[in-house]
Amino acid sequence: MLKGKFPIDKFKELKTPFYYYDVDLLKETLQVVTTESGKYGYHVHYAIKANANPRLLSIIASAGLGADCVSGGEVRAAIAAGFPADKVVFAGVGKADWEINLGLDEDIFCFNVESLAELRVINELAAAKAKVARVALRINPEVDAHTHAKITTGLKENKFGINLSLLNGVLDEMKTMSHVRLIGIHCHIGSQITDMSAFRNLAIRINEIQEELEKKGLHVENLNLGGGLGIDYYHPNHLSIPAFDNYFAVFHKLLELRPGQQVHFEPGRSVVAQCGSLISKVLYVKEGEVKKFAILDAGFTELIRPAMYDAYHRIENISSDKDVEVYDVVGPICESSDVFGKDVELNEVHRGDYIALRSAGAYGEVMASQYNCRQLPVAYYSDQL
Ligand code: LLP
Repeated sequence: MLKGKFPIDKFKELKTPFYYYDVDLLKETLQVVTTESGKYGYHVHYAIKANANPRLLSIIASAGLGADCVSGGEVRAAIAAGFPADKVVFAGVGKADWEINLGLDEDIFCFNVESLAELRVINELAAAKAKVARVALRINPEVDAHTHAKITTGLKENKFGINLSLLNGVLDEMKTMSHVRLIGIHCHIGSQITDMSAFRNLAIRINEIQEELEKKGLHVENLNLGGGLGIDYYHPNHLSIPAFDNYFAVFHKLLELRPGQQVHFEPGRSVVAQCGSLISKVLYVKEGEVKKFAILDAGFTELIRPAMYDAYHRIENISSDKDVEVYDVVGPICESSDVFGKDVELNEVHRGDYIALRSAGAYGEVMASQYNCRQLPVAYYSDQL
């Protein structure tokens, strides 16, 4: 069944490696996201960093989602793809002046501000344009996401957000600034979170933060809970859409909303991961003394997640039905970390076989590099082949 999903005959006309996106699955996922968030009137801003492929962006924008950006380039990509500026939020610890000016010129929904130093600059730049910038303070909620250390963001020692203990000082100085308006608070605790208790703790922490703000006479119109919902990379059926129903229900159950308050989310991975595969061809099968290697024409230049985070991606030989054998699946890059999987069971591999690395739609194509003077991968779409 899995193999039937790939148009192998069409692949034969294409140069590998490339990304292949199942557009129906993306649309189905978007349907689930909009239905489940719609039940509670929640606003969803797709985190562009997960995949900024213009075709996918325009499909996601057409589904009515907003965009979560972390750079001026992403703000431009969002606007070009058709995301309305009033649904664009802009986070990031190091926004350059030109990026802030771009956000002001585009009149984006809000800046998610990560420090007092940044807030001062936004206030100054907005003043120069005689504008008032809408800002949400990104608070570091000190909630452990129980995920890989490299993708954890909500702990005291992480560079993201404003520490809870420093919040009062920021709010005090903010009162003296006339070109920023506080419209919300923002938190993001990490990525690939599959343990719902982390989100429960986040909701409870947000309630506590709100109470603190109210003691200071502050009411915020918007709560932004960030992204982070994980996907099942081990799922044998690629049609695995994350449980958005459970995810939103956690917040619906626990968040203590004030009248009229709006709730926002910024999912990235959970929207696009499952719809993408990296398709590669076997260059050589190399028999070592203790190992058999399947050497692919794709390497960490096309998909860096296994090398960078020890991430697992399901690997399939989509050309073969022969008996299963065990291989280390590696790329051609001159680094020993260029390994997609060790001791992987694959249908017997031969030179020229097509290998699919599954669930690679998030943080795959967008993190590709040209190391070793390689070309960036191209993308194909199920509805255009
Ligand atoms: N909002 C903020 C402020 C973020 O920093 C992120 C991700 C998201 C939303 C979206 O999170 P998601 O729903 O995708 O988990 N390259 C890594 C993941 C880095 C995530 C960075 N921030 C990986 O391949 O696992």
